[in-house]
Amino acid sequence: MSREHPSAFAPLSLARAEEWWRETLSHGHPRAAFFVARDDQGIVGTVQFHPAWAPNQPHRAEVAKLIVHRRGRRKGIGRALMDALEARARSGGFTLLTLDAKRGEVAERLYRKMGWNYVGVIPGYALNVDGSGPSDTVIFYKDLQRAAEPLAGQQRKPCGPGLNRTSATTPHKTDRDDAF
Ligand SMILES: CC(C)(COP(=O)(O)OP(=O)(O)OC[C@H]1O[C@@H](n2cnc3c(N)ncnc32)[C@H](O)[C@@H]1OP(=O)(O)O)[C@@H](O)C(=O)NCCC(=O)NCCS
Repeated sequence: MSREHPSAFAPLSLARAEEWWRETLSHGHPRAAFFVARDDQGIVGTVQFHPAWAPNQPHRAEVAKLIVHRRGRRKGIGRALMDALEARARSGGFTLLTLDAKRGEVAERLYRKMGWNYVGVIPGYALNVDGSGPSDTVIFYKDLQRAAEPLAGQQRKPCGPGLNRTSATTPHKTDRDDAF
């Protein structure tokens, strides 16, 4: 079965975005989890993880779609979402997380700062949202057993005053109004 990649959606319309989120949420693995952060205007950020497709690899999952709305950036929301995701993955029995990020983007700095391990670069891995590219992608992993506790003395930036909730859900419990 072929699935159209979201990067092929340029320009991404609200209808296509909603369709993608509904399909992703409704077809998600039972152990997948979706997180949203809210401020006084509504959802301001999101991230998700999906277990490896292979049934003999139940220890690992892939992180995807860390997105913080422009109004909420640089307030610690991205970090809070990743903290919540890692805690949930750990409590859900996962010991290894992987993710990829566009080379040179701010997300790469975030992952490095949060202790993710740099693996390397895949040239030309990802098409951009506007259809341009492909762009180089950086691969990271985190061993959740080794990273159980934050480094001693590491400063944690508090979430901005607007962030009032970070919540997680499985696909089956998701309120679809929360999907964006
Ligand atoms: C990447 C993204 C999720 C970061 O969210 P955020 O809530 O602004 O991030 P935080 O405020 O939690 O920042 C955490 C750390 O990331 C790094 N960082 C985040 N934004 C940065 C920026 N604009 N410039 C430099 N470093 C940045 C910093 O190290 C920061 O720590 P610090 O504030 O203590 O210096 C957000 O910029 C975004 O949604 N970008 C577009 C979508 C995207 O690229 N997603 C990643 C897909 S892999």
